[in-house]
Amino acid sequence: MIHYRTPAELDKMRRSGLVVYQVLQQLRECVQPGMSTWDLEEVADKAIRKSGAVSAFRGYRGYPCVLCASVNDEVVHGIPTRKRVLRSGDVVSLDCGVVLDGYYGDSATTVAVGGEDALPPAVRNLLRVTEESLQAAIEHVRPGQYLGDVSSAVQQRVEAAGFSIVREFVGHGIGTHLHEDPQVPNYGVPGQGPRLKEGMVLAIEPMVNQGTNEVRMMPDNWTAVTADGAFSAHFEHTVAVTREGPWILTRP
Ligand code: MF3
Ligand code: CO
Repeated sequence: MIHYRTPAELDKMRRSGLVVYQVLQQLRECVQPGMSTWDLEEVADKAIRKSGAVSAFRGYRGYPCVLCASVNDEVVHGIPTRKRVLRSGDVVSLDCGVVLDGYYGDSATTVAVGGEDALPPAVRNLLRVTEESLQAAIEHVRPGQYLGDVSSAVQQRVEAAGFSIVREFVGHGIGTHLHEDPQVPNYGVPGQGPRLKEGMVLAIEPMVNQGTNEVRMMPDNWTAVTADGAFSAHFEHTVAVTREGPWILTRP
């Protein structure tokens, strides 16, 4: 069942969205070669605690951390660990969700370790195209548009650039639970699926691979990696449908 949130509910979701933004902002600023993904977990954990919010991820289906940190060929749900030390030229996707006052926020970004200049041009392009595909999708988050318009916007931007779309994981509705209806695939047909209405809130999260779209599961049963070992990128925002157009709750 799709939920339609009142303005008062959207204000609460805005508050949790801004907490997620601030956590990711702090991580973006401190990521550097030599840090482990566990160091990032600790930064995120402290920041969430300080905000008064609670992690949406820790304990979710047994997930052990507040952050997903997915490095290079890891697509999503990388579990932070002291053993994974970041090096210049790595890319790390940072995915964080919180619940504040009963309402959820969820966002992800992919960061170049050691700066953009440390990346080969093709990987830099992967990050740019993935973020642009999210932005293109967000433009369709308006009353009267179809969910297929949102999905297809991601697909068109990604496939025009020659990259591939992960199909095993999708975006989702979000509100009083982390995952609500509808599912938000990163591929689709314009004009199809549910009509968007004021008060709907979507977490849109393209996961884009440089090579094959095939993914494999690691033995930890969380970390998804690309089947060919090529790099993957992931960006996510929580976005509300309003009369005035898309309201990106996880960005100031
Ligand atoms: N952003 C991801 C999602 O919405 C992160 C989930 S991680 C989990 O599915 F630990 F909460 F499962
Ligand atoms: Co999500």
